[in-house]
Order: sequence, then structure tokens, then C-alpha cells
Amino acid sequence: MVVEVVQAVSDVERAQCRALRYQVFVQEQAVPPELEVDGLDDECQHFLARSSRIGSDVGSEALATARARATGRGWKIERVAVARGQRGRAIGAALVRHILAQAPRGLTVYVHAQEGALGFWQRMGFAAEGPGFVEGGIQHRVMLWSESPAAR
Ligand SMILES: CC(C)(COP(=O)(O)OP(=O)(O)OC[C@H]1O[C@@H](n2cnc3c(N)ncnc32)[C@H](O)[C@@H]1OP(=O)(O)O)[C@@H](O)C(=O)NCCC(=O)NCCS
Repeated sequence: MVVEVVQAVSDVERAQCRALRYQVFVQEQAVPPELEVDGLDDECQHFLARSSRIGSDVGSEALATARARATGRGWKIERVAVARGQRGRAIGAALVRHILAQAPRGLTVYVHAQEGALGFWQRMGFAAEGPGFVEGGIQHRVMLWSESPAAR
């Protein structure tokens, strides 16, 4: 399978991102739907990793998604979700690398990382900062990308 990461701009791509997030966060992780659908999507860039069949856009499957947005603190990557059956195949890493390559220069890139995903973010070059906190019923830490100005 060839995996491609694209910015999700069309209505179909945006709907694929929303559906995958709903599956992973609401159905799998029991995050309340009103927290997952938070009204901020329109101010975010959305990313989609999908299977790609060279020469054809028929049968492409949504594999992973994430969004990113400017905040008062910097540039925040959020809602990183790999479809359950696709984890452990370096798709999350490919998605995050693609997003980091697009990060605005000069801004602090950060995430609110789920405690269970700290190791993933460390592998992506992020380091935890400050105490843990609960969001959507899940324990989190702030993690800063080591190449961000504030983390150097
Ligand atoms: C966390 C998540 C995004 C990881 O995506 P993935 O595609 O399974 O991860 P990858 O296969 O790209 O892994 C990249 C590296 O991180 C490591 N890794 C992945 N998930 C990890 C975890 N939960 N804990 C520790 N290390 C992890 C892998 O072993 C791999 O290491 P390597 O480079 O040494 O081989 C995915 O499991 C997921 O969507 N989980 C449910 C939603 C979620 O928790 N999102 C995170 C919100 S902060």
C-alpha cells in the first residue's frame, strides 16, 4: 500500500477527517462528542493520510488525520488519529512529519499529548513540559517540538 499525506481541503476530504476523528476519539476513547466537535475546525489546517493507488483516485481509504492551528502560544497540532487497524505501521509518524514540514517558522510547535502517546511524540522530537492535566477525561502533558524557538 502506498500512503500519501495531503492537506484536506475538499468537502469529501474534510468529511473523511471528521468521520475518522469521531471513530477514534468519541467511539473508541469515549471523549464527549461536544468536546470533539468544538467549533474550531474552520480555523484549522486539516491533514489526511490515505492509501493511494497510483493513477487512480478510486478506492482510496482514509488512514489517519490531524489538524493544526495558530494559538496564543504558537502552533498547536491536535486530533492526531490513526485508524485502529492501521496503527504501528509508521502512518502516524508520516503524518506528523508532513505537518512539521509545514510548521510556520518562528512559532512554538506543541501538542497536548495523551499520556499513553508520550512515547510516540518523543519519537517525533517532542519533549514534555510542566505537570499533567485532564482533557476530555484523558490525562495529558504539554509537549514542545525540540526544533521550536521556545524549546531550544
Ligand atoms: C498515537 C498514534 C497517533 C500513533 O500512530 P501510529 O501510526 O500507530 O504510530 P507509528 O507506527 O507511526 O509509530 C512511530 C513511532 O512511535 C512509537 N509509538 C507509536 N505509538 C506509541 C505509543 N502509544 N507509545 C510509545 N511509542 C509509540 C512507535 O513504536 C514508533 O517507534 P519507532 O520509530 O522506534 O519504530 C495512534 O496510536 C493513534 O491514533 N492512537 C489513538 C488516538 C490517539 O491516542 N492520538 C494521540 C493523541 S495525543
